[in-house]
Amino acid sequence: MNIQPATLSDQTQIKELHLSAFGEEENELVAQLAVELLSEPEVHALVATMDENIVGYAAFSPVRIEKHPDYRGYILGPLAVHPGFQKSGIGSALVNQGLEHLQKEHTDFVLVYGDPEYYGRFGFLVEPAESFIPPFKLEHPFGWQVIVWNPAASSPCQVRCVEPLNDPGLW
Ligand SMILES: CC(C)(COP(=O)(O)OP(=O)(O)OC[C@H]1O[C@@H](n2cnc3c(N)ncnc32)[C@H](O)[C@@H]1OP(=O)(O)O)[C@@H](O)C(=O)NCCC(=O)NCCS
Repeated sequence: MNIQPATLSDQTQIKELHLSAFGEEENELVAQLAVELLSEPEVHALVATMDENIVGYAAFSPVRIEKHPDYRGYILGPLAVHPGFQKSGIGSALVNQGLEHLQKEHTDFVLVYGDPEYYGRFGFLVEPAESFIPPFKLEHPFGWQVIVWNPAASSPCQVRCVEPLNDPGLW
């Protein structure tokens, strides 16, 4: 398995990956998001490949903090591993590699909206995420989590995301 930056030429496989990994109620929306993020500047998107086939994807998009434009934050999502390759460490490898890259780039914090049982293993925490006001009302508030590397960045603040994430249906 290899992990490398995603490119626009990966978009067909990335779309198919998300259609197969997510349930029918959300897979079209998430697949569209995954593809749209490829064209956004500053998005750190990774693919995991096996024999040149894309089996996993993770995108880390920049977020903006109102009143503190100098803080550097990201949000992880979507994250997907092809159903035939799940539970073999691919999701963890994508998340860990992305976090390692962002930490080296002096990122202050990384948000995620997902299952704390899964994301907790990477250090994401629910409680400190209460300071970061999400851009939309959350359907599952318990899934809002953060890793804070710069404690100064965690005073109460409004989070703004890149355009593809500005769809209330994703939240
Ligand atoms: C979630 C997902 C990315 C994990 O990828 P993966 O490659 O299977 O994950 P890993 O192999 O690194 O880790 C597997 C572990 O995570 C656990 N896990 C997977 N999904 C989980 C979830 N939603 N909640 C809690 N634990 C989960 C597995 O049970 C396994 O546990 P173990 O290590 O104790 O055996 C993958 O299952 C997937 O694509 N799911 C469908 C899409 C999705 O839900 N994406 C996340 C959106 S927030």
